[in-house]
Amino acid sequence: MIENTFTLINNRTGKQYKYNILNATKGPDVVDMRKFFQDTGLFSYDPAYTSTASCTSDITFIDGKKGELTYRGIAIEELASNHTYLESCFLLLNGNIPSSEELIEFDLEIRHRAFLHEGLRNIFNAFPDNAHPMATLSAGVTALSTFYNDHLEIDDEQEYQEMARRIIAKIPTIVAFAYRHSIGIPFIQPNIDLGFTENFLTMMRAYPGGKMHRRADGYDSLKEIEIRALDTIFTLHADHEQNASTTVVRGVASTGAHPYVAISSGISALWGRAHGGANESVIAQLEMIGSVDRVEEFIAKAKDPEDSFRLMGFGHRVYKNFDPRAKVLKGLQDKLKEELTLDSELMAIASKIEEIALNDEYFISRNLYPNIDFYSGVILTALQIPKSMFTPIFVIGRTVGWITQWIEFKKDKTSKIARPRQLYIGE
Ligand code: SDX
Repeated sequence: MIENTFTLINNRTGKQYKYNILNATKGPDVVDMRKFFQDTGLFSYDPAYTSTASCTSDITFIDGKKGELTYRGIAIEELASNHTYLESCFLLLNGNIPSSEELIEFDLEIRHRAFLHEGLRNIFNAFPDNAHPMATLSAGVTALSTFYNDHLEIDDEQEYQEMARRIIAKIPTIVAFAYRHSIGIPFIQPNIDLGFTENFLTMMRAYPGGKMHRRADGYDSLKEIEIRALDTIFTLHADHEQNASTTVVRGVASTGAHPYVAISSGISALWGRAHGGANESVIAQLEMIGSVDRVEEFIAKAKDPEDSFRLMGFGHRVYKNFDPRAKVLKGLQDKLKEELTLDSELMAIASKIEEIALNDEYFISRNLYPNIDFYSGVILTALQIPKSMFTPIFVIGRTVGWITQWIEFKKDKTSKIARPRQLYIGE
């Protein structure tokens, strides 16, 4: 009978150590190393956690080789095509697609909770108008915790759900407030008659009074395709296993700090261009390349080990195949072409990069494919969202993932404070 264990031999001492293999329902199994230091007096060394599982989870699964992603077992393609973002939020939080009654109740609660305390508005006025919206957003969410400081020690399902709904509902309002503050125009409060995504786009783009834009013959209104496109983008960004920002959220959860400062820590981690900040950098990079005939020059820079230049929107720690979310966005771009003005020059440069990189040995040998950030920027630009707001849009989508992972951590009674060790090389 095959033993479900892993034996390690320390060749310095000849001692053998046997560890259980814990079986995954999908993807790699793990060697249970929790007693390794106690047994051997040695640490395992894995600074970027490339071979390390930090937790057990039944929320999201990624198959990096096949390029597959599921939320609670349902494929991202199915959710993006046939469900709204709020349905995916309910699925992540509760483990099932909501019934129509459950969805009505959930939707109504999100609408009612979208408003911000007047005191929070005053905080925004303190920020310089050229503040990056990610800084304003992170500070705004930390400030939100001061209005709910009775939630420092919450530990029951009802409280978790209420806290989750509140933060999911308020983040879009904070993002819209941060944007309008940055361009010096009055805030627009949420409208409870509008659904989640339509409400956000209205708070972002409408004139005071809620009208989108007045023409000689009447008013502009949001196109259904715009609302659907952004709703799909939120769904694609909702959760992604133990990525860098989720790892930060779980780390803050492990110290027992307020859940909203765990989310604002996740926002800060996401800001980096190696992570969520890549979507803003992709557009900046396409604009810098400027024309199709300069693509080769920049591909050469990306391949040059002496050059720190990297192709934004390419490569991924887990996907060694096409990011399935990128495929959905590529399809969405094609659909939007008929109804919205997509920047054809930027799209031509992006297509040229893709065409060259996907046939170049450097990228093929390293399994570097376009990731979600490579395509989202062109669509967001077509939705009249400025690139400084791209990563805040990622935050709106990902908040449900962070808070679901936070709840999973808190409900795991075996969880402990995250406290790695080190390889000391000092005096
Ligand atoms: C997100 O983790 C998640 O799930 C994140 C995310 C989520 O939903 O939460 O999916 C969202 O963050 C997507 C990724 C967005 N970032 C970018 O697009 C930035 C550009 N990509 C790279 O910085 C990089 O690919 C990372 C950060 C995404 C992944 O880096 P890894 O896994 O640490 O890989 P690596 O740096 O070890 O690279 C392996 C090799 C290296 O070459 P060699 O040293 O082997 O010669 O590939 C090269 C790298 O130089 N490489 C690139 C490259 N990405 C990797 N070369 C040129 N351009 C790139 N973009």
